Amino acid sequence: MTAPGPGAHLLVAGGAGFIGSRFVVEALARRDGTRITVLDKLTYAGNRANLAPVETDREVADRLVFVRGDIADPAAVAPLAAGADAVVNFAAESHVDRSIMEPGAFLRTGVDGVHVLLEAVRRETERAAKGERAAAPRLLQVSTDEVYGSVEAGASREGDPLAPRSPYAAAKAAGDLLVGAYHATFGIDVVITRGANTYGPHQHPEKLIPLFVTNALEDRPLPLYGDGLQRRDWLYVGDHAGAIAHVLVAGRPGGVYNVPGSAELTNRDVAGRVLRLLDRPWSLVRSVADRPGHDRRYALDGSRLRALGWVNHVDFDGGLAETVAWYRDHPGWWRAARGDDWDAYYERQYGERLAASTTADGPPGVR
Ligand code: NAD
Ligand code: TYD
Repeated sequence: MTAPGPGAHLLVAGGAGFIGSRFVVEALARRDGTRITVLDKLTYAGNRANLAPVETDREVADRLVFVRGDIADPAAVAPLAAGADAVVNFAAESHVDRSIMEPGAFLRTGVDGVHVLLEAVRRETERAAKGERAAAPRLLQVSTDEVYGSVEAGASREGDPLAPRSPYAAAKAAGDLLVGAYHATFGIDVVITRGANTYGPHQHPEKLIPLFVTNALEDRPLPLYGDGLQRRDWLYVGDHAGAIAHVLVAGRPGGVYNVPGSAELTNRDVAGRVLRLLDRPWSLVRSVADRPGHDRRYALDGSRLRALGWVNHVDFDGGLAETVAWYRDHPGWWRAARGDDWDAYYERQYGERLAASTTADGPPGVR
């Protein structure tokens, strides 16, 4: 087994999403000969416009192939895996609130889809053993800190038990367990990354930071769940994509790597920072009914990734300022990304909550 290096052909599942597209754009921009095939179902969250930076540069565009398809479809996956040196799987349904409304799609992609990818990699590994291809492919599964569940104190290490508490997190944990089982049983080459809450340009406007930025830009209420004192560790998208690229090359077979962020903050604090950057008043924030099963805190121990040679480059203040400016300057992107079902989704998720909302306590220093 050899880790994929410069000139490799990568199959990137979910490469039209928020983090996947950043990974694709940066991998091609290194101009080291890397070729990428993106396999993406283009769900409501997938967006070909995220790959636009690639399509304007001929040398880079020639090394990208886009295929619309489902990772849970063996007929779509098998021929693409046959040509790949590595498979990087970003594909998932990724929004916790939607997993509470309709869990089924989360299991189809997170469990059945991961299983289909594993079967394809297993078959290619067998072909390599028979000399029918040069080397076995590596699979990198992009996972999340949410598989550890809510962490009241301290920081999760990679060997900690998985204790997911939302259908989203449970589907991701199931995927991690399947990946580990295929490594142990069939000897396929796998690595897993577990990233923290990620933010940056091109994130779907349903997630906390882009939702609060875009609502503030439209002077609409910012719905803060419960007391707003839940804590998340924020990771800039370029750092998350960079850590994944690093683990793809340097991670040991079977290794699991946490990817922590750069700032642990309460949601109340994040809301205050967004409003300050946009010069909007705290009165836009509304305290609304909490998310059921809402995890209070996530925190990751990053020593294993540090020992592998990766450190984050972007601090939260700089990353947030850049992100807020990007949404301010790209209203066409986020209005289109909301998609046709946005109003129905918004009403279902927030209609009753906002009707019954109350004034929210604010952090210090916000007008
Ligand atoms: P996203 O929702 O923006 O993108 C997901 C992409 O996967 C979309 O392009 C979508 O069309 C595609 N997709 C969904 N189901 C598919 C299927 N069955 N077949 C093929 N393509 C499919 O998500 P994201 O925020 O970019 O997250 C990417 C990965 O990173 C996910 O696996 C997620 O669990 C993980 N992750 C995300 C965060 C975060 O804060 N966003 C943090 C840690 C880990
Ligand atoms: P989110 O972006 O959905 O990420 P995750 O649930 O995967 O951590 O939410 C981040 C935090 O923000 C989480 O504690 C829930 C909270 N939140 C709100 O308070 N209001 C909202 O409208 C949303 C979408 C999230």
